[in-house]
Amino acid sequence: MWKVVWAVWLSVTVCGHRADPEEGGGEPSLGHVSVVIVGSTGDLAKKYLWQGFFQLYINQVSSGHSFSFYGGGLSPADKAKPILFKILKGVACSKDVSAERCALLKEQFLRLAQYKQLNTTKHYQELNTQLRKQITQEGLTEAGRLFYLSVPAFAYTDIAKKINGSCRPATGAWLRVVLEKPFGHDFHNAQTLVTDLANSLADKEMYRIDHYLGKQVVSGILPFRKENKKFLDPIWNKHHIERIEIVLKETLDAKGRISFYDQYGVIRDVIQNHLTEVMTLLTLSLPANLSNCDDILQNKLKIFSVLKPLDKRQAVIGQYQTYNAEVQQELNKTKDHVSLTPTFAGVMVHIDMAQYDGLPIILTSGKMLDERVGYARILFKNDIFCVQNYKSIYCKPKQIIFYFGHGSLHYPAILVTKNLFKPQLINSEWKEVTEHKVVSVLGLPISDYYVQTPIVQKEAYTELISQLYHGRKENFISAENLLASWSFWTPLLESLHGSFPRIYPGGADNTNLLDFHLQGQEVKFSSEAVVMISQDMMGGAASTSFQTMQGKYKGTDMVSAWSEDLVERLAADMQESAEAAVREGGTFHLALSGGSSPIALFQRLVEHHYSFPWRDTHVWLVDERCVPLTEVDSNFFHLHNNLLAHVRIPYTNIHPMPVQLNQRLCVEEDRGAPLYEKDILHLVNTSSFHFVLLGVGYDGHTASLFPGSQVNHGDSLVVLTESPVKPHQRMSLTLNVLNRAHKVAVLVMGKSKHELVTQLSRVKDDPKKWPITGVQPNSGKLVWYIDYDALLG
Ligand code: BG6
Repeated sequence: MWKVVWAVWLSVTVCGHRADPEEGGGEPSLGHVSVVIVGSTGDLAKKYLWQGFFQLYINQVSSGHSFSFYGGGLSPADKAKPILFKILKGVACSKDVSAERCALLKEQFLRLAQYKQLNTTKHYQELNTQLRKQITQEGLTEAGRLFYLSVPAFAYTDIAKKINGSCRPATGAWLRVVLEKPFGHDFHNAQTLVTDLANSLADKEMYRIDHYLGKQVVSGILPFRKENKKFLDPIWNKHHIERIEIVLKETLDAKGRISFYDQYGVIRDVIQNHLTEVMTLLTLSLPANLSNCDDILQNKLKIFSVLKPLDKRQAVIGQYQTYNAEVQQELNKTKDHVSLTPTFAGVMVHIDMAQYDGLPIILTSGKMLDERVGYARILFKNDIFCVQNYKSIYCKPKQIIFYFGHGSLHYPAILVTKNLFKPQLINSEWKEVTEHKVVSVLGLPISDYYVQTPIVQKEAYTELISQLYHGRKENFISAENLLASWSFWTPLLESLHGSFPRIYPGGADNTNLLDFHLQGQEVKFSSEAVVMISQDMMGGAASTSFQTMQGKYKGTDMVSAWSEDLVERLAADMQESAEAAVREGGTFHLALSGGSSPIALFQRLVEHHYSFPWRDTHVWLVDERCVPLTEVDSNFFHLHNNLLAHVRIPYTNIHPMPVQLNQRLCVEEDRGAPLYEKDILHLVNTSSFHFVLLGVGYDGHTASLFPGSQVNHGDSLVVLTESPVKPHQRMSLTLNVLNRAHKVAVLVMGKSKHELVTQLSRVKDDPKKWPITGVQPNSGKLVWYIDYDALLG
């Protein structure tokens, strides 16, 4: 569906065209250029933007243009001015500028810059008047206006409207509006933003910035591939490449920007944009002419169109341990607030193309890791078998590394192991490095590589500011590119919604906790989760691990443990029941619920319980949503994908609920519920399931029996019910049949259920208000499986 929708956008304009300055691209015609940074005292402006514009000023001051710089913001001038001037005083010249000239340029720059409150339409009108007045008074011609929006995306549309309505430059001059990432939150939201902005700005006037495209090594990927085409062409494919890793590791946390970060998380913050851009540059087919930006874009879009869809099995997510407390503090949340926002993710991507078929591309990023480093590594297969001289370079890994910076090397570089080939330099702005400090890069001493690096290191923002000043769009993100990327990432983001990230302590203490391995089409954390609990719980001990604990909850048996142990215990108990039932009667009747908690159980059963008697097991559904069984909303869909598709169970033993009959959904007169009831009566002895797995919702519902609706269904075993949330129509087993089961397990997991668990422990049994309290097996056994997160909060 996503692909279809974004394809519509393919007709939108793409690259900047240099020929026609009035059209918004090309060398600025001589005249006055006004730069307005909206959000001028924010973090980004402080760290990079003012410095980038100062550098632009240094480079252009003698070109015949004149400039003025406006720092815009919501705050009134008396508050913001001192902050802005403090930032401006901090800008610096590059080494090639003498101290004297630097002092002069800085003084001029400070004189040309001023603060302007930009909040209301009136403020934009005032700015316009001011700009016009200055241009007329000084007898200048207006060359163009550049607005840099360093503000959250939700403010874009309104600001663009104000620029369009009150602040366009004079006829003949260009307008460029720079939009910072994150550009949207998901596909639909990005699409709305694109459409809304199109009402105020022409596509050629918009520059969507991704600063990774300004990093010298990233913008060097295509030229490197081209210069070394003769070496790379034969090996740039699935036969020779083992895998591609695109990595951004950071040591910092998200403190100070939680209000932004908690809504986005690591995938939206850096993977959907920075790392995805790198991935496309590494894999797109090289156009004959690298200066043809349209060709590059089209080839990028082709890659997006053949990316295999992702689901949560191709991703692992984590969250650093102190993150939740930071969220509680910065967002003023109570102590029981739980954020599931991932601060770490590893995702495996595949490209459905003969050249790359089956080749894993791993995109990984995280906050609070052991080092700050960014790179893309192409690891080649090495088919040599070294009998003796295994220290020889030919026996070592073969790899090409695009090293964006930081890390052990401390500078940006492209490294090629000497067992591959000696690469050509990208161009005259790059040099070979032959003298090295002793350092090792991704497992090999630096001396094992050919290394090239830019002669002069340039800051990514400075580089992109210069490009946008010249109207060059090839390193900016087009609307099609943006929507293609969101259409690829949105389904994964949706499927991860509600998933629990693995908690990691941060820094070197993470040891191997975040390592993950590739298992066919899936990725999994390699190690079992290490238990980390707060000090007060352990009376001062920093960390320890509990064993499974037996106890009582609401007067019946309870098993509790950390989630992974709990799931294993439940899987083992289920297998024990299955074996006993098969021994006694030859068949095991199992009724399973939907929801996210059972998925971990299904996966455990698939991966660790090879001797489970699936051949003699009948699987039934506890409840179902009235949607086709092939839709992601369907409980059966998840049961099938996570369990049934992976075990050898006869298909005649699988009993999906008949929610779709006569090509319509849950219509009473189609008699789906009585049909299911008939099957149960026919196959399940005394309609007593051997094992029923239930969950409990935040409102106390279980199966599809919801508070406030009827829970006493007389003798019926299966009924149609109404849910307060979509999809409203459901089919459900009744309390009557649930209570006939030999064993009922109620699985409750996750911190977000803590409040519910506490509340349930206090309430009186009242099935109409709390349907779960109506589950009281007549002669069977009820066991609560509650993980420590849910139990202890
Ligand atoms: C930004 C993200 O886009 O990129 C930050 O919002 C991240 O969270 C940063 O820290 C990383 O960029 P760099 O250039 O430091 O690798």
